[in-house]
Amino acid sequence: PIPDRVRSLLSQMTLEEKVGQMTQINVTRLMGDGAWDQGDLNEATLKKVLVDNHAGSILSGGGASPIPNNAEEWAKMTNKVQKYAIEHTRLHIPIIYGVDAVHGHNNVMGATIFPHNIGMGATWDTELAKKTAASTSKAVEATGINWNFAPVLDVARDIRWGRYYEAYSEDPLLVTELGNAAIQGIQQDEEKGTLQMAASAKHFLGYSASETGHDRTPADISTRTLRNTFLPPFKRAVKNDVATIMVNSSSVNGIPVHSSHYLLTDLLRKQLGYKGVVVSDWQDIQYLVDEYHIADTYKEAIKISINAGVDMSMVPIEAEPFTSNLIDLVKEGKVSEKRINEAVSRILTLKFKLGLFEEPYVDASQAIEKVNNQDRDLAYQAAAESLTLLKNENQTLPLDKNIDSLYVTGPSANSVENQMGGWTIGWQGIPENSDELPPAVTVLEGIKKTVSSNTRVTFDEGKDLQKARQSAENADAVVIVVGEKPYAEGEGDTETGQLPEAQQELFQAVQKSGTPVIVVTVAGRPLIMNDIVKNTNAFLMAYLPGTEGGSAIADTLFGNYNPSGELAVSWPKRIGDVPMNYMQYPGPNGGESSDYDPLFAFGAGLSYTTFDYSNLNVSDHVNKEGNVKVQVDVTNSGSRAGEEVVQAYTDNAADYVLTPPKKLQGFKRVSLDPGETKTVQLDFPASQLSVITGDVLGNSERFVYPGEYTLMSGDQTAAFTVDPEKDEPQINKRLAGKDRY
Ligand code: IFM
Repeated sequence: PIPDRVRSLLSQMTLEEKVGQMTQINVTRLMGDGAWDQGDLNEATLKKVLVDNHAGSILSGGGASPIPNNAEEWAKMTNKVQKYAIEHTRLHIPIIYGVDAVHGHNNVMGATIFPHNIGMGATWDTELAKKTAASTSKAVEATGINWNFAPVLDVARDIRWGRYYEAYSEDPLLVTELGNAAIQGIQQDEEKGTLQMAASAKHFLGYSASETGHDRTPADISTRTLRNTFLPPFKRAVKNDVATIMVNSSSVNGIPVHSSHYLLTDLLRKQLGYKGVVVSDWQDIQYLVDEYHIADTYKEAIKISINAGVDMSMVPIEAEPFTSNLIDLVKEGKVSEKRINEAVSRILTLKFKLGLFEEPYVDASQAIEKVNNQDRDLAYQAAAESLTLLKNENQTLPLDKNIDSLYVTGPSANSVENQMGGWTIGWQGIPENSDELPPAVTVLEGIKKTVSSNTRVTFDEGKDLQKARQSAENADAVVIVVGEKPYAEGEGDTETGQLPEAQQELFQAVQKSGTPVIVVTVAGRPLIMNDIVKNTNAFLMAYLPGTEGGSAIADTLFGNYNPSGELAVSWPKRIGDVPMNYMQYPGPNGGESSDYDPLFAFGAGLSYTTFDYSNLNVSDHVNKEGNVKVQVDVTNSGSRAGEEVVQAYTDNAADYVLTPPKKLQGFKRVSLDPGETKTVQLDFPASQLSVITGDVLGNSERFVYPGEYTLMSGDQTAAFTVDPEKDEPQINKRLAGKDRY
């Protein structure tokens, strides 16, 4: 049994070896002068990092370069590092190797890339989130890597934030369901029933809530919001035994999270009962000195952070000042040996669970076959289900495949880089000087494959506006693919949320032609583009759709696929309205429309068919421990087969704590043939209706108010009642009386 093996190993370890296990080093450090270009690691630095410093973990942060060229080279590299650790360290402890495979094995040329999470959110498809994550795991595993720093469980709030696209949704339930399906996909070896890969739920906690919209700037979050919005995905992840959790680099309520004993120990360990490994983000202990100035020295920062609850430090460059300072801190009694043993036990337990002691290596000769082009159908399905049709005036779409001529334009129409986004090969996306590209079908290629052989397809990026207008005039329809260039953390923040001016001008030029215009947006977030939306004939949001983006988009434009994505975020009209979400509380600020006034609301998304809802049925009475039983009939009343994401929302019983006017409680994606009706079950636990009572900070308990609630699904509404328990009215009154200030 694992605990015995951990205990036995721990008892043989020196303090130096233990502290080494808590250290994670970036792979570039092992390459001396960037020697991987020559296909090798640097023997002297391998010895220094793995033997002298006893480092327990290696990462390739953000697609660390120089990177191996292909999956086989990756596997050879990780095998080499592993072999060195096992053969040269006294106790032969394997390392655990981590990467950010956040949408496929996006670190390896040749791997299939799935849509980024913002697109996965729009699929509302938990099974799909699990499958894409499982497929990613298989590819990652084939290259000798055992730890995936995914999924992101941050709840989207502000389109100005450069990591917005890494979040699934603005809705905590949707993030919880999709994120936890991904955790299962990453971690579970379905056949063996064992842990196949460590996931990392990140970034704990409140990372997406920065007030300025800039990455890693402070968040101020009331306890109520922290618990209602940001905590639920992590709470479920803990329940699902997520192997690791990565800490938020920012500060919450005036405390850098890497120094927060409250968040990392009281909340995460004591209240939620988390048993896995907590890993820091990149260099974040050092930042407690350099950026936050809450410690004068690195040593002091290490003391604060390890005592707060960080088990492993992504150091990530030089092991030594971290390890030697931590050793001194233990010797001085400032960090207890108990705390070190606790952290190291968690790390060793994970290594045992992953089977690293038994099977530390992979067969490099198989890596390319297992990684390259794997699961392209799944990538197609994910891209297709994500595509969200937001405007389709006079049924502009689907286009006729036999259309005579089509003008395709825009900077993202034939750009693999743009449709992949950040965290692809390179940290900030595919490097500009890359002479190779991951497998992909661009929109232009997809269109060419789809239209009839008689259709004349003209393409240019649209840099010459006059020529673009001319081409538009000469065509029967224009597909303009606009959007963003790739970006990742730190470099993707925007103050305006606008499309680059040149693209706005291109739109105006083609629109003036009078030819029907279809806008496809390839971007990691909703952009402020009211005029374009108003003036275009059709508008399709494609997010960052990955390898099969172009095929899925073309099939949707020409009706081979019936669009079924629905916005998992709100699309604002004005940058001044962000942060925005559909669950904003109401208030006396100028009438209902100003409470929540998006361009496209959460859940928006059109289809080429129509769905009718009927017979909504909800349990009349529930108690707070029970399940609210919901069923509704959905009929495809149009003439094409299609998929619909059926959703159930509630409007809470009124009480003195404000609740959102509408809150998602359940959802299911169903497919329906023309004329077909399905009865869809959307039961949910009554505990999901709970609100946090108490004072203005929410310092109190969860409570399900008794009373009447409204259930909404499609255009149907029905009422149900949560029955009071004997003493409930009193509790209710007590809290209300005490805290109404
Ligand atoms: O996992 C990431 C994290 O999300 C952001 N900073 C770097 C880490 C490692 O690449």
